[in-house]
Amino acid sequence: MNTQKQKIPYPPRLDLANTPTPLKPLKRLGEKLGIELYIKRDDLTGAGLSGNKIRKLEFVLADALNCGADTVITCGGAQSNHARATVIAAAMIGLRSHLILRTPDPSNPPPLEGNILLDRLVGSEIAWITPEEYKNRDEIFEQQAANLRKSGGKPYIIPEGASNAMGAWGYIRAAEELANDLANLPDGTDRPTTIINATGSGGTSAGLILGTHMLGINARVVSINVCDDRDYFVKVIGDICENAIANYHLDLPFSRERDIEIIDGYVGRGYALSQPEELALISDVARTEGILLDPVYTGKAFFGMTQELSRDPNRFGDRIVFMHTGGIFGLFPKANEFAPLL
Ligand SMILES: Cc1ncc(COP(=O)(O)O)c(C=O)c1O
Repeated sequence: MNTQKQKIPYPPRLDLANTPTPLKPLKRLGEKLGIELYIKRDDLTGAGLSGNKIRKLEFVLADALNCGADTVITCGGAQSNHARATVIAAAMIGLRSHLILRTPDPSNPPPLEGNILLDRLVGSEIAWITPEEYKNRDEIFEQQAANLRKSGGKPYIIPEGASNAMGAWGYIRAAEELANDLANLPDGTDRPTTIINATGSGGTSAGLILGTHMLGINARVVSINVCDDRDYFVKVIGDICENAIANYHLDLPFSRERDIEIIDGYVGRGYALSQPEELALISDVARTEGILLDPVYTGKAFFGMTQELSRDPNRFGDRIVFMHTGGIFGLFPKANEFAPLL
């Protein structure tokens, strides 16, 4: 992809997130790993809103209001950070919310802890469905929307992770922040940078890829998948990028093969399932830098990054920005798994 500077044609946005978020050095861990390591603190986008989703939701919820919606419907895993950020943001702007959440046995839903507690505190209605049913979530979305319409409601459907062309603007905007952050570092924007993030529904990666190219940032975006595999994410991220380019008439040449870099191999035991070495790394990062990673996304991505660096210290060049995309509430349901390590 040719890099080029262009005026960014942002769609309408609500001002909900605490941005810009800080870019901070991780000095001790960087020294240990032999690289210049920074962390972009998108875990600080808000207290209840913490994490990456609110950046996307600023654009998606602006559209919901514009469409006259009174209720948002979205979906995710039981401890979905996206679902929690959506329902809290909806409450902040006076909308009702319905969630469709995945759990192995819907007749015995998970306890009221972590993100689920927050979902219920803000009054969200939760429909529990099986992983099998989740594969047909688009139909379930439509049924729920039809029911709400019948009773006079105006529903607005937000896809998993708010990962669509509109949501991608959230991370195009984050890339604009990063351009300013990098300009203030030693060697400014001249030194090549690798931006590393966890990918789960693709929207963060898509926005970062589009944004870094729109802004002409001298950076590579490397995404570590926490579920599925490389082929799946090349398709999902590629579709979001291509839809955004088409829908918003962006003047960017884009190639899936050249522009999407996925490191597969760190899903571990599966989505949201932890291995002791991942939890030990989370504890090590907390002790060394006072940074709280989450077990489902950022912990796995950080683990993947350190494993790759231990094999090849030059794997990502000498300056890395790790995107801390949030997920703190996912730590609490894992207390029993952490206990033997502490
Ligand atoms: C904490 C956290 N980090 C990273 C991700 C991945 O972002 P995306 O869904 O945009 O790929 C998610 C959600 O999926 C998340 O909740």
